[in-house]
Amino acid sequence: MNALFDLSGKTALVTGASRGLGFEMAKALCEAGATVYFNGRTQTTLETAIQNIPNAKASAFDITDSSAIAPILSDLGPLDILVNNAGGRDRRNVDEFDLGDVRKLLDSNLVAPFELSRQVARHMPVGGRIINVTSIAGDIARAGDAIYTASKAGLTGLTRALAAELGPRGINVNAIAPGFFATKANQSMVEDETIAAFLKMRTSLQRWGTPEEIAGACLFLASAASSYVTGQVLTVDGGLRAHF
Ligand SMILES: NC(=O)c1ccc[n+]([C@@H]2O[C@H](COP(=O)([O-])OP(=O)(O)OC[C@H]3O[C@@H](n4cnc5c(N)ncnc54)[C@H](OP(=O)(O)O)[C@@H]3O)[C@@H](O)[C@H]2O)c1
Repeated sequence: MNALFDLSGKTALVTGASRGLGFEMAKALCEAGATVYFNGRTQTTLETAIQNIPNAKASAFDITDSSAIAPILSDLGPLDILVNNAGGRDRRNVDEFDLGDVRKLLDSNLVAPFELSRQVARHMPVGGRIINVTSIAGDIARAGDAIYTASKAGLTGLTRALAAELGPRGINVNAIAPGFFATKANQSMVEDETIAAFLKMRTSLQRWGTPEEIAGACLFLASAASSYVTGQVLTVDGGLRAHF
């Protein structure tokens, strides 16, 4: 392995790692030598997911349970890498939301990453990394997705603000903005031929991303390879945002 990507001796927490993009990113960090806590809401699901992965540990908690976070993080000990990946989605038109729904989505997609980041950063050593999983929806919008779009734009802003605030402490903060990935969350869309036709026309690579195609971006941002990169959003979208 190239030393730039070697994470031996590092400890990481990846939220929302029981499946999908979080699982692939957490697995890649393990394969690079880190000890990785895979988070999700159900311990048994996590234990099933991580069997046969070296250096993988399960850490079940709900990221929106702010009172649970401090004692759990204290048990895990200082972390070198935090990946704020877990997030929800609620595709509806604006008139269909009540404010309780709005607050719930902002809680999981923005408030929880804020709280986890600041609590983890207090004990993070120099060289630490925080990686927020935003979305291309953090910069571009479509109808019927207003609160998710707002939450991801907020997370993009938070990434830059934390980079500015934590940089003097030797902590790099960046974001990954995925495009269309064929995860369980998108199962019904993956089976939709209209969306396949849209992606064929709108992405340079003419297809969905596969979940494992997110791993390289995470490894780059978690490792010494990105030591002078902070406050950035790395878009991984098959060329969608670059393609006219
Ligand atoms: N897939 C895409 O195309 C795409 C595109 C742009 C951005 N993203 C972003 O990428 C991230 C992952 O997406 P995905 O498609 O991989 O999602 P997914 O397949 O639905 O997986 C979501 C993960 O988050 C966990 N989770 C959900 N709520 C949680 C909570 N409150 N506390 C702890 N864990 C929680 C789930 O675990 P349990 O259910 O086991 O608790 C699961 O491991 C999200 O932030 C999403 O917005 C995805």
